[in-house]
Amino acid sequence: MDYTEKMLRDDALKGKNIIVTGGGSGLGKAMSKYFMELGAKVAITSRNLEKLQNTAKDLEEATNGTCFAVQCDVRHYEQVEQMRDQVIQEFGSVDILLNNAAGNFISPTERLSANAFDTIIDIVLKGSKNCTMALGKHWIDNDEKEKNVLNIVTTYAWTGSAYVVPSATAKAGVLAMTRSLAVEWAKYGIRFNAIAPGPFPTKGAWDRLLPGDLKDKFDLAKKVPLKRVGEHQELANLAAYLVSDFSAYVNGEVITIDGGEWLKGAGQFNLLEAIPEEMWDQLEAMIKAKKGD
Ligand code: HXC
Ligand code: NAP
Repeated sequence: MDYTEKMLRDDALKGKNIIVTGGGSGLGKAMSKYFMELGAKVAITSRNLEKLQNTAKDLEEATNGTCFAVQCDVRHYEQVEQMRDQVIQEFGSVDILLNNAAGNFISPTERLSANAFDTIIDIVLKGSKNCTMALGKHWIDNDEKEKNVLNIVTTYAWTGSAYVVPSATAKAGVLAMTRSLAVEWAKYGIRFNAIAPGPFPTKGAWDRLLPGDLKDKFDLAKKVPLKRVGEHQELANLAAYLVSDFSAYVNGEVITIDGGEWLKGAGQFNLLEAIPEEMWDQLEAMIKAKKGD
């Protein structure tokens, strides 16, 4: 068995109806595919309807499952409510919301226009808020229980990161919302969790974060203690567990899946990895020689 294999039993999400924002590409598409393989009906939503329809067709052919494509710009609350109502009309109900849609690009912060900063905050933070409020209010008003929301953040939601400041600011807000509502809305039977992925190559992210030859100059695998990037199925396995009833007692958690990347950047002496093995005898002797000084 290896980490690219499928983890959960085949019926783990049978009977569940799931909305995946940004489900037409990248990680959203990979998670949607696995949810369908586990028996869920999945509605994928984003701005580009043609892309969504092509993805829905691909996923239905690959899994024999049901995938419904709905156009929606998550920045606009009225569009989010319309999307929610279309999915309910199609599926009868919604059990799970996966806030995965995002916008991001690298830039020195002083180069950003006010609109550039707002654009990222609006997609990531306001978009996640819009979807959470539209679904949450619906569930609460109709006394629907055993629901959950999974938010995709990043490890720099708590460390911060230079050159992606709007994204870091917005993801930090999404993480705060996750933990806050996990407590406040537990009484309504709604759980909230988050995943913080490290580098998982996708076209959407790599075109905007590592354009041109930055891909070769900054090999992200080298920053990871496990010396590799993530496989989409690994993330899909974790997401499927967190939205399934198997994680019914997990609430308010953020699970990092990054091969140890952010900790490597944080630990003060982690850079000593660069010291060759044969030098340690010499260093030990130097330290011991100072005993009693
Ligand atoms: C500076 C930029 C810019 C850039 C856009 N802008 N790109 N400023 N540097 N590279 C500015 C524009 O000039 C404009 O400001 C404002 O931002 C909005 O740009 P638009 O193109 O009009 O916006 P829109 O069409 O809404 O597109 C949104 C987008 C785009 C975010 C800019 O990249 C997009 O659609 N992204 C969606 C997918 C995505 O980003 N995926 C990656 C997620 S990866 P002005 O002032 O001129 O009007 C991720 C990974 C995190 O989150 C962790 C990785 C390890
Ligand atoms: P991606 O393929 O670019 O996915 C982003 C999706 O968001 C796209 O499908 C896009 O579709 C959608 N989207 C953007 N703006 C939207 C809007 N206003 N309304 C609705 N949908 C919108 O990139 P990805 O790498 O798979 O990223 C998926 C998630 O993982 C994001 O939350 C990202 O922050 C997170 N993440 C990724 C990595 C990584 O290494 N890849 C690491 C950490 C976290 P349209 O263009 O059709 O709207």
